[in-house]
Amino acid sequence: MLISPSLLSADFLQLGAEVEMLNNSAADWMHVDVMDGVFVPNISYGLPVLSAISRVAKKPLDVHLMIVDPNRYVEQFKEAGANILTVQYEACTHLHRTLEHIKSLGMMAGVALNPHTPVSMLEEVTQMLDLVLVMSVNPGFGGQKFIPQSIDKVSRMKELLLRKKSKALIEVDGGIGLLNAPLLQVAGADVLVAGNCIFSAENPAAMVDRMKQV
Ligand code: DX5
Ligand code: ZN
Repeated sequence: MLISPSLLSADFLQLGAEVEMLNNSAADWMHVDVMDGVFVPNISYGLPVLSAISRVAKKPLDVHLMIVDPNRYVEQFKEAGANILTVQYEACTHLHRTLEHIKSLGMMAGVALNPHTPVSMLEEVTQMLDLVLVMSVNPGFGGQKFIPQSIDKVSRMKELLLRKKSKALIEVDGGIGLLNAPLLQVAGADVLVAGNCIFSAENPAAMVDRMKQV
């Protein structure tokens, strides 16, 4: 199981130290949540902050765009250091084109599904995907309650990917902790994002270890 701690729950005044802590932890990726205040009702951080993180991060940067019309910014996120670029299905009018765009720049291409968006919406693009992100909360904020139905959704996503012979990884994001992590793993998850659970722990690096051992 890969663990991608979400920097949304980090102490922004100590961002360099937080990234350094993750460099020295068992974390596999670092999850960077970009919010525009339009697609989601919150504004987080954007390109200059990602560039700063990429100067110190020693792990792949897993960038989750919760913004409208993400196709406009694909090059800029590549330049700012994104290794994995995930767009929201609901924000893309021409998803196929956007995925080609991301892949043409050498990044891993991901699509995130809001809790209400059916797995079947990805039927026609599974071959192009490196990653599917099953949102287990409504995007916009850290520290929200996990939606239990997401476990079954991960199983159905796994079935779709197997049927289509897609090698895409399944990532799950929102409200994840030590209790639901094992259930998500059994359902077929490959990557778990965790913000609040890791950064509110007394010892965040030790919490990453515990999640890795799930
Ligand atoms: C929510 C973000 C998540 C968030 C997860 O919109 O996409 O990545 O940081 O945070 P927790 O683990 O606290 O739910
Ligand atoms: Zn996220």
